[in-house]
Amino acid sequence: MTDVSAGRRREAPVEVAPFRAALFADAGLERRGVSLYFGGVRLSEIAAIVGTPVYVYNAGVIRAQYKRLDDALSAVPHKICFAVKANSTLAVLRVFRDLGAGADIVSGGEMQRALAAGYPAERIVFSGVGKSPAELEAALAAGVGHIHLESADELEKLGAIADRMGCTVAVGIRVNPDVTAETHPYIATGQGGIKFGVPFDQVVDLALAVHHHKRLRLDSLAMHIGSQILDTSPYAQGVTKLTALVQRIRAAGIETLRNLDIGGGLGIRYKDEVPLDPIRFAEAILPIARETGLTVVMEPGRFLVGSAGLLLTTTLSRKHSGGKELVLVDAGMNDLVRPSHYMAYHDIVELESAGRAETVVDVVGPVCETGDFLARDRTLPGLAHGEALAVLGAGAYGFVMASTYNGRPRPAEVLVDGDRWAIVRPRETVESLFAGETAEPSWER
Ligand code: LLP
Repeated sequence: MTDVSAGRRREAPVEVAPFRAALFADAGLERRGVSLYFGGVRLSEIAAIVGTPVYVYNAGVIRAQYKRLDDALSAVPHKICFAVKANSTLAVLRVFRDLGAGADIVSGGEMQRALAAGYPAERIVFSGVGKSPAELEAALAAGVGHIHLESADELEKLGAIADRMGCTVAVGIRVNPDVTAETHPYIATGQGGIKFGVPFDQVVDLALAVHHHKRLRLDSLAMHIGSQILDTSPYAQGVTKLTALVQRIRAAGIETLRNLDIGGGLGIRYKDEVPLDPIRFAEAILPIARETGLTVVMEPGRFLVGSAGLLLTTTLSRKHSGGKELVLVDAGMNDLVRPSHYMAYHDIVELESAGRAETVVDVVGPVCETGDFLARDRTLPGLAHGEALAVLGAGAYGFVMASTYNGRPRPAEVLVDGDRWAIVRPRETVESLFAGETAEPSWER
């Protein structure tokens, strides 16, 4: 292997970033000797056999996170519906189904995935800011348990479809409680003036309209105030507002509410954040929610799978340009868009540590965009080319946001369970990227 580590070398001994021990514990990662293990599996074995880039998920970590949240909520009747958008791989969905989770979906495509993974339709909640008539119809035909309305227009559409199909539907209203959660602005969803939810002051009227429709039953009030939230206070504000709405809806004579869906959004550790501890969360929120007597529903994605997933990649080459050391790897922004899209930090570690001195580098992908990077100004041990790395915290909003830009097939996916592992989605083929296309149009007119 050619040494591509030259650069701004540091003579000090390799120092483990102080937050890394916590990140490793969150992910179920362990360094045994020089090798990195995920569950009981040596990751370089997966990289060698499957090739890179490859996503790897740890079922043990997923189950442990689910149990932490389930236990924390145990003081009240509750349900956990996994947000399929965070990771919709069938084998991952199946792990949650087997734990008894429901599924929170936002499209007909996610519905089909949840059904294919074996979720009973009544355990599915259809949120989603813009549902097409075809999606609503498919959800009713499948018997989806709850449909969360986003507007009066949507109510009209759903009501007409339910009338036509002759079926009764349990409906929730997604409330925009107008609270601001401190997170990246692209993923804050609970304040006024954005597209999500029914504005607080319009909810009671919409509730009455649902109630008066003979085929719709108002079953839930819901909110989702954002993602990667590290503080309980916006939840407390939001749930307090929902609780007030529950009282007003009951005072208006509607007694059909069963569920209070307080959304997802629990933040995790990517670097040195203090993640939201489910017990602290429950202590702050459940006393408020409990006043309603409703079942508390949560729909987390990231908290349940974020730390449980890695993206493995291999170094291709190095450049020294404009005073910067650039390490080129075989995973790009098309495979993991979070660094480039949100400037998100994802820790990067070697699969086999060679004990080389550290250098400061940018880790960049093969895509033809300057914004294609996985890490900037990152202190990493000097890397040889052909060396495999793990990008941490890639279990949520990783593969699901991957694209095939630059003609790049999406990565393979592997599930680790204890000391077993299996490919649960083979690497996409180049042929499949243009299957169904034609270079010779047969014109309609
Ligand atoms: N429920 C609803 C209605 C949502 O819109 C979302 C996420 C969730 C639940 C799950 O949120 P979580 O527990 O995972 O925070 N792509 C972004 C995150 C977008 C989140 C969108 N909605 C990222 O990579 O950070």
